Amino acid sequence: MSAASPVSSSRTAVLSAAARVATEYLESVRERRVAPVPETVAALAPLCGVLPDSPIEPEEVLSLLHAIGSPATVANAGGRYFGFVNGGCVPAALAAAWLVSAWDQNAAFRVQSPVATALEETAIEWVRELLGLPAGCGGAVVTGATMANFSALAAARHALLTRAGWDVEGDGLFGAPPITVVVGDEVHSSLIKALGMIGLGRNRVVRIPVDGQGRMRADALPHLDERTILCLQAGNVNTGAFDPAAAICPAAREAGAWVHVDGAFGLWAASSPRYRHLTEGFEMADSWATDAHKWPNIGYDCGIALVREPAALRAAMSIQAAYLAQTEQREPSNYNPEMSRRARGVELWAGLRSLGRSGMAEIVERTSSHARRFAAGLGAAGYRIHNHVIINQVLVSFGTAERTLRVVDRLQAEGTCWCGSTVWQGHTAMRISVSSWVTSEEDVDRSLAAILHAAGDNV
Ligand SMILES: Cc1ncc(COP(=O)(O)O)c(C=O)c1O
Repeated sequence: MSAASPVSSSRTAVLSAAARVATEYLESVRERRVAPVPETVAALAPLCGVLPDSPIEPEEVLSLLHAIGSPATVANAGGRYFGFVNGGCVPAALAAAWLVSAWDQNAAFRVQSPVATALEETAIEWVRELLGLPAGCGGAVVTGATMANFSALAAARHALLTRAGWDVEGDGLFGAPPITVVVGDEVHSSLIKALGMIGLGRNRVVRIPVDGQGRMRADALPHLDERTILCLQAGNVNTGAFDPAAAICPAAREAGAWVHVDGAFGLWAASSPRYRHLTEGFEMADSWATDAHKWPNIGYDCGIALVREPAALRAAMSIQAAYLAQTEQREPSNYNPEMSRRARGVELWAGLRSLGRSGMAEIVERTSSHARRFAAGLGAAGYRIHNHVIINQVLVSFGTAERTLRVVDRLQAEGTCWCGSTVWQGHTAMRISVSSWVTSEEDVDRSLAAILHAAGDNV
C-alpha cells in the first residue's frame, strides 16, 4: 500500500489529531473540576443513540469524543482525585499504550508477538523483585487485582485438589474433596467475588476476627491443614493496614495450607526501604495478587498474579489446540485466564523502566507523606481520623454519619477534589486515597481547604 493511500493518510491525520487533543486534555485537566457536572454528562446523549448507517471520517469521531466526551470524564489524571485506590498513569506507560495500540499485538502466544511476550516476562520478573518475592515464581499480567486473585486462587485450588487426588480442571468441583477458605473479616470484596467465580463459593469462607485497623487476628486462626486456602491482605482498602503475615505464615506453611495474599496496592510498600517493614512475612506465601494500575501508576488495566510454584498456575490456565502453535518457552495463554489480549505487559515494562527502583519507591513515599499531611490538617481542625495513617489511606469523619455524608456530597459537588465515603467498622467516614504520581503538596493543600470548607459550620 502506498504512503498516499486513503487508509494511511486518514490514519496519519487522526493519530496526529489524537496526540494533539490528548495533550490538550492533559494540559487542562489539572485545572478543571474533578467530577463532571450533570449537564456535561447529560450532553453525552448524542453519542449514545442507535448506530448510524453511514460512515464518518475518523477525525470526526475523535472530535466528537473530545468535544463531548472529554468534559464528561472524571479528572483521574489531574492529581486531585482521591477516590477508590485510583492511580494515575506515568508518561512512559501512557506513551507505550499508544505505541502498543499502533502495534496491535495479540499477546496470547509467543508466535503472535515476540516483543509482547519478552517484555511481559521481564516486567513480571521486575514486579516480583520489587515486591521482594521469591525467585522462580510464575506469573500472569491480567486486567486487575480481581482477576489476579481469581488466577492465583485457581492455582491454589489446583494444588490442593491435586494433592487430594482430584483433577479439578478435568472433572470440576462436583464431588470434589472440600476445601476450606479462611479470610480476614475485612477481606476485599473482589477476593470474595473471585472465590465465587472459581466455584469455591462466596459464602463458604471462614471469617477471622480483625482488630480496629482491619488486621486479621493471628490469635484467632482456626485449624489449618493441607486442604485450607488462607487469604491474607497487604493493604486494607479503607485503612491501608497489613495482616500480620510474619506471625501467621510460618504456622500456615507448617500445616500445609496454601497462603494467598491480596496485595492490590499495599504490597508495593515493599519497593520502598522506608515502608518495606510493613510487608514482612508476605514473601512466605504461595501466591500473590497485585495491581500496577494502583500505586505504580501504570494506567488501566493492569494487574499481576504471582505464584510460587508456576506449575500450579500453568495447570489451572493451560490451553491446547492443534492450531495454537506453542513453543517450549513460557506462553502467556498457559498462565492467563484470557487467550487473546492486549500487550499490557509492554506498558507495565515501560512504566517500571521509566521509574526504576527509586522512582517506584518515591511514589510510595510521596503519596504516603501526602496522606499524612491530609490527616494532620483534618486532625488539627478537630475531625476524627479513624485509621493509623501508615501508608496512603486516610479515613475521616465530620460528626454524625449524616453530616459526614453531607460533607462528602458537598465536596464532590464543589469539584476541587473528589473523595468517596465508606463505613468503617460501624463509622461512616470519608475515604482519602492518595495514589497518583501527579498529586503535589499544593494539590493536597487546595484539597484540604476544599474539604474544610465543605465541612464548614452550616453543612
Ligand atoms: C485490597 C484490594 N483487593 C482487590 C481490589 C480490586 O482491584 P481491581 O479493581 O484492580 O480488580 C482492590 C481495589 O481497590 C483492593 O484494594
